Amino acid sequence: MKNYVNASPEEKTQNYLFSERIKNIPKSFLREILKLTNEPSIISFAGGLPNSDYFPMKELHEAGAKVLQSANPDTFQYSITEGYLPLRKWVSGRYLQKGIDIPPEEILITNGSQQGIDLLGKIFINPGDYILMEKPSYLGAIQSFSAYQPNFITADLEEDGINLQQLENIIQKNKIKLFYSIPDFQNPTGISYSLEKRIAVASILKNSNAVLIEDNPYGELRFTGDYLPSFKKILPGQSIPLGSFSKVIAPGLRLEWIASDKEIMEKLVIAKQACDLHSNILTQKIIYQFLIDNDMESHLNKIKKKYGHQRDVMIEAIQKYFPKEVRFTKPEGGMFIWITLPKEYNTSEILNRAIQEQVAFVPGNTFYLDHSGANTMRLNFSNSSMEKIKDGIKKLGNILHHIY
Ligand SMILES: Cc1ncc(COP(=O)(O)O)c(C=O)c1O
Repeated sequence: MKNYVNASPEEKTQNYLFSERIKNIPKSFLREILKLTNEPSIISFAGGLPNSDYFPMKELHEAGAKVLQSANPDTFQYSITEGYLPLRKWVSGRYLQKGIDIPPEEILITNGSQQGIDLLGKIFINPGDYILMEKPSYLGAIQSFSAYQPNFITADLEEDGINLQQLENIIQKNKIKLFYSIPDFQNPTGISYSLEKRIAVASILKNSNAVLIEDNPYGELRFTGDYLPSFKKILPGQSIPLGSFSKVIAPGLRLEWIASDKEIMEKLVIAKQACDLHSNILTQKIIYQFLIDNDMESHLNKIKKKYGHQRDVMIEAIQKYFPKEVRFTKPEGGMFIWITLPKEYNTSEILNRAIQEQVAFVPGNTFYLDHSGANTMRLNFSNSSMEKIKDGIKKLGNILHHIY
């Protein structure tokens, strides 16, 4: 047995008998950037953070106090894995308002949709299974699924959703088990699937055994345009929606949900038991109290108005300060704008310059499984003031004009 006690950190990393699973998970470059951007002097468009100025603080304090004051021992006892039933009923009611019938029994409360993604990976993926991802896609999902050692296959994301030709070819040629999709205001691109593409995707998938995971943490944040139906509506037996309170109330509460058929739910419950028994019952009660004591619609309208304005200010600044050849998405909601620069630009190099000028963003190649996309970047607009958005985009524009 090797002596670990006096070994250097590098030797320890080499000597410990880590699993193939953990070696397989890519490090989050994003978290590294976020460490850098904690400095208050840096204007950060890097994180995917909701704006903490808009957290409903007074209402959360009130909900917390009410729950604690009236708490009985059950509030601090072990609880059921599926989650707090009144909260699951509230989620079910929210779906019903959108014309989707999901009974509370088919809703599992999780610690973040991040845990939902991980549990789905755990119950579905065997090493070597084929998993379809959008290109580019959410890094947290790539990380979660990587632990289960699948073969990733990607299809390009276009302005109105996934490339249908590629999707059809991939589905025909491979036994795709899961298709992970973020159809509303995608992270990282801000792109949403059009109605036509949703219908076309559903009709392609219908001929296969692939299950579509519809990760939708941003769907409630639509500033403009019409609501578009969930895949649960157009591909009912074959889709699993994930929802989240993170972007609309507060992410630190870590409460989200998976909606799935009974058979899948049974497996998810076993997987969650093996993982953490259940989500924190106190916070579930606090969120539920918040939801019944407040008008969610008016809270949502308030934050959507503010985020919509921040998006407009960022787009105006991009039009004014970035070189004319730059292409960018104009999301109808969510938190991100995706920038595509001419081929010769390298956004990882540009980031180094930008940090010197006290501005940060995420280089786009972080979101590509094949590390392509060197000329792309993700900009977050939700977490900066109007002044910082104007200032930061002006600085970035200046760098882009002069770097090559
Ligand atoms: C697409 C997507 N899915 C899931 C998550 C995780 O969110 P949470 O675990 O807070 O619900 C995020 C967070 O940024 C995200 O962008």
